[in-house]
Formats: sequence, C-alpha cells, structure tokens
Amino acid sequence: MTLEILSLIEEQRATDSSLTPVPAFAPPDPSHRSIPVDLLRGDTPDGIAVVGDAGRALAVLPRMRPAVVGNVKLCYIDPPYNTGERFAYYDDRRDSRAWLTDLKSHLEGLRPLLSSHGSVWVHLDDSEQHRARVVLDEVFGRDSFVGTIIWQKRLTRDNRKAFSSMHDYIHVYAPAGPKVWKRVRNGLVDEGVFANPDNDPRGPWRSAPMTVQAGHATTSQFYTVVTPTGVRHEPPAGRCWTYTEARLRQLVSDGRVYWPRNGDGKPRLKRYQSESGGLAPFTVWSAAEVGDTAGAKKALLRDFPLSTPFDTPKPIGLLERIIAIATDPGDLVLDYYLGSGTTAVAAQRLGRPWVGVERNAEVVERFVIPRLQNEYAANPTGGFGVSRLNQV
Ligand SMILES: C[S@@+](CC[C@H](N)C(=O)[O-])C[C@H]1O[C@@H](n2cnc3c(N)ncnc32)[C@H](O)[C@@H]1O
Repeated sequence: MTLEILSLIEEQRATDSSLTPVPAFAPPDPSHRSIPVDLLRGDTPDGIAVVGDAGRALAVLPRMRPAVVGNVKLCYIDPPYNTGERFAYYDDRRDSRAWLTDLKSHLEGLRPLLSSHGSVWVHLDDSEQHRARVVLDEVFGRDSFVGTIIWQKRLTRDNRKAFSSMHDYIHVYAPAGPKVWKRVRNGLVDEGVFANPDNDPRGPWRSAPMTVQAGHATTSQFYTVVTPTGVRHEPPAGRCWTYTEARLRQLVSDGRVYWPRNGDGKPRLKRYQSESGGLAPFTVWSAAEVGDTAGAKKALLRDFPLSTPFDTPKPIGLLERIIAIATDPGDLVLDYYLGSGTTAVAAQRLGRPWVGVERNAEVVERFVIPRLQNEYAANPTGGFGVSRLNQV
C-alpha cells in the first residue's frame, strides 16, 4: 500500500530541491512544511524512523503527515517500564506519577491516529502495569479492553529476588471493542493436520466431535443418531449433539459429516482448511513459541559485537506474531518507543508500512538503521528512511 505521507514526501521533493536527498540528520531548515525524510533504501519510504521524543512526534505527526491520522492499525509500545534501573541507552528511574502522566499524554496523542479497527498493545512488567491499566481504561474506555497477554520473557531463575519473575504483560485495547475487533483481527495459522482421503471438492479437512456439554442444551439436541451402517448412538453422558436432528440431516446431505469406524462411529464434523479463520490466540505466549529476551539480546550481539549491548530488545518472533494478528499487509504500524527497532524490522519483513519513534539518536544510528539495512539486503522490498524531529 502507498501511504499519502509518501506522496507528500514526493510532492515536497518536487518543490524543494534541498530534499533530494536530505543528508542524514541535516541541520534545521525552517522552510520544511513536513518532516523531511532521508531515504535510505527503496524509491519511497514505506517505513520512517523518527528520531525524537514520542510526545513531540505524536503532536507533530497529524499536522505534518495528515494521512497518518485515523490510519494506524496497530500501535505496539514497549516503554521503559520504570524498573528503577539504569540501562546503557536509557534511564529507567522515574517518579511513578510523572511516568503515568507521560504514558497518558502519549496515549491521548495516539488516539486520533488510530484506525477505527485498530488496536493498541502496551508491553509492561509489574513495576507499573496495574496502574497503567487504569490509565488505559481512562483513555480508551473500559469496554475497549480486549485482553492481557502473558509473555514468558526469561527461562533462567533469578535467585536475588523473592520471586523470580519470568513474564511480562501486554495489554491489548481496541477502541471498536473486542467483538468488532475479533472480526478484523487474524487468527493464528492452524498447523493441524488436514487431509482429503475422500477427494472432497472443498479440499483438505479434519474432523471434530459433534457433541457439546449438555448444560445449555435444548431438548432438540437429544435424539438417537443412526449411522449409514445402521448403528444407533445416543449422546455421551452429560453431553448432547451440537446440532438439531434437522441440521444434522442438512450437513450429511451437504457431505460435511464424517462417519468413523467404516461408518459405524459417531458423526464428526468436517472442518475444511480453506474455511478455517485461524485459531484464537491463547493469552499465554511461551518463549518456545515467540522467543525470550536472552535470545533477542544474543541475536543483537551477534549482529553488533562491537557496540555496547542494547539491554531490552524484544524477540523478532514476538513482534511478528503481534503484527500478523493485528494487521494485514499494507496496514500501518506505529511504535513510538522504538528502541533497537524490532517492530520496524518485523513490519518491514511482513510488508507493513511503519512509523517508529526513538528519542536516543545513538540507538537509531547503532541499531535501528543497520538492522533495517540488513533486512533490506535479505529482502529488498519496501523502502525506508529516517527523519529528525528537530528539523521541523
Ligand atoms: C524498552 S525500550 C524498547 C525496546 C524495543 N521494543 C526493542 O525491541 O528494541 C524503550 C525505548 O524507548 C525509548 N524512549 C524512552 N522515552 C522515550 C520518549 N519519550 N520518546 C521516544 N523514545 C523514548 C528509550 O530510549 C528506549 O530505547
């Protein structure tokens, strides 16, 4: 997809020769009407890494890149958690009230940028997550809460602590509400085994039982099923048939019922691969599925052995899963605490345009840009650029 912001950049290029190309981190030029972007790869920047403060970027974006307004399908943020620690590239020691005030004002700045079917994913640990939930309720409304994902961030035990915390929280909010958002979000790929032993024209399928718990059943769900071979079945104790007898007959005539044991067994519903909307994600995500912090740090260290390590990168697998659930190719992704650039790399890889904001220019130069360059070398699609807010 092509964002209007990209045509704005083109338009600006046409009228302002100083923008072809803007040297990285060029000195301020008051004549710029929009955020100047130094194109690093590709013909147009599908992704823009903005060097600057999140609050300022959120305030400036609607004016300078109007097409971003109402178009952000996914905003993932991984702010400093307020752990009380000092990391190599950022200080994580703040007064709790000041931390919450910033969180709230940034979320308020985000609100108008979000698409009507968008979602916000806020990644935190126990330092502030419970207070942040209240702020999220205030900004987006309690009815916008979709769920909290528990991500297993470490596998080793920390014996210095009373409890060795091995998880983070990712709070998910969707202003349209969970029911509407469920219709637009993607399920997880169903990796179950599908086959087509009967050459069904609908393609590969697998079967599922056709009984449910009897708790909320109606009388029409209790009857005797007679199989094609004449065997008679009652629903198992405490259960009833999923469908009424009339509906079962319809499904049978439509070829959607499988009779195991050569036609003697209880009916099973054929679930087709082509009709599978994917699986509802669980709320607990293990390190084995999406990676952990140690693995993410190791990967960064391998790529940048000479740099002071970035302490808190997220695994690429985690961001790939979030982006795959919350967006389709072409949908805009925003991360205004970009850090080492994991969200940008994952979005680039999955063909989603993105805007990332990071306050520390050194982090952008050392990690974000080289990671994106590497990604582009491996998969040369979608251009990207970098922009400095103090040029505006
Ligand atoms: C926990 S790290 C994000 C890590 C990132 N998810 C990754 O995978 O590398 C938080 C980042 O937010 C940045 N940051 C903190 N306050 C900011 C602000 N007000 N505006 C923009 N960036 C900020 C810090 O410099 C730090 O790099």
